[in-house]
Amino acid sequence: WPLHAPEIDAIRTLKETRNAVVLAHNYQTPEIFHGVADIQGDSLALARQAADCDADVLVVAGVHFMAETAKLVNPDKTVLIPDPRAGCSLAESITPADVRALRAAHPGVPVVTYVNTSAAVKAEADICCTSGNAVRVVESLGVARVIFIPDIFLAQHVARHTAVEIIPWRGTCEVHERFTADEIRTFRAGYPGVAVVAHPECPPEVLDAADHVGSTAQMIDYVRRERPERVFLVTECSMSDNVAAELPEVEFVKPCTLCPHMKRITLPKIRRALETLAPRVELDADLIDRARVPVERMLAVR
Ligand code: 13P
Ligand code: SF4
Repeated sequence: WPLHAPEIDAIRTLKETRNAVVLAHNYQTPEIFHGVADIQGDSLALARQAADCDADVLVVAGVHFMAETAKLVNPDKTVLIPDPRAGCSLAESITPADVRALRAAHPGVPVVTYVNTSAAVKAEADICCTSGNAVRVVESLGVARVIFIPDIFLAQHVARHTAVEIIPWRGTCEVHERFTADEIRTFRAGYPGVAVVAHPECPPEVLDAADHVGSTAQMIDYVRRERPERVFLVTECSMSDNVAAELPEVEFVKPCTLCPHMKRITLPKIRRALETLAPRVELDADLIDRARVPVERMLAVR
């Protein structure tokens, strides 16, 4: 990445001093994603690579549940979240008491939780999944029914790709729920030949109108593989900027659809976190013991 801003240079130096790595989700802005990240990817890649990491300090340029997941698989390391207010409407849609109530209503049915949940909710679940492995995880259980929390649209998408009965929750992503099939039709009319690639947190009619559906990493893989002349990535819009930096020959068309939580993470906050080793993700030992089990089960599913 050609950018040499003072903030980027300072962060690169601090990473060496602290033996730290920066993990950046695909929705971070290009100066973070290309400027200072050591590990980049979707939620699954970040969880996997956090588990394999040998740095002393992990800085999560993503939202709070991603930093908690990094802590669950690295309980003895310092995990920093540059702005702890970086939440997620899905994670906020369900509480541990809600999960216990679902279990009581469906005795014996296992709970699959999307990683977009708090550690306290994970502690009540049997196994985690991401949008990249949800069908595989559901089918790995070898059961006829599962409770699938918290994203109703992802649950509906999974239900269409498996014979396992899916009992959903009512959570939604505040960014993806706003896309409409009409909007896709307008983009197709305005940009002839555009390839439409959507994230499964979008409503079903949007997924039906898309050419391809996948996690953020699977969406990027599609563009790298197919090299469409122009593409509409139906997701948080910073991701298009990140891929456009890598593939200048592809035209990325998009509305502005920022995730306000992801955008709380900035270069000055990353720098401050590395200088002060705060704010840290701290979880009590009992919660870590319970919540890491579903994450590790997910990581064992290939
Ligand atoms: P991915 O796992 O596909 O990166 O999705 C995470 C997310 O928050 C999507 O809104
Ligand atoms: Fe949560 Fe949606 Fe933001 Fe992803 S884009 S972090 S699901 S609010």
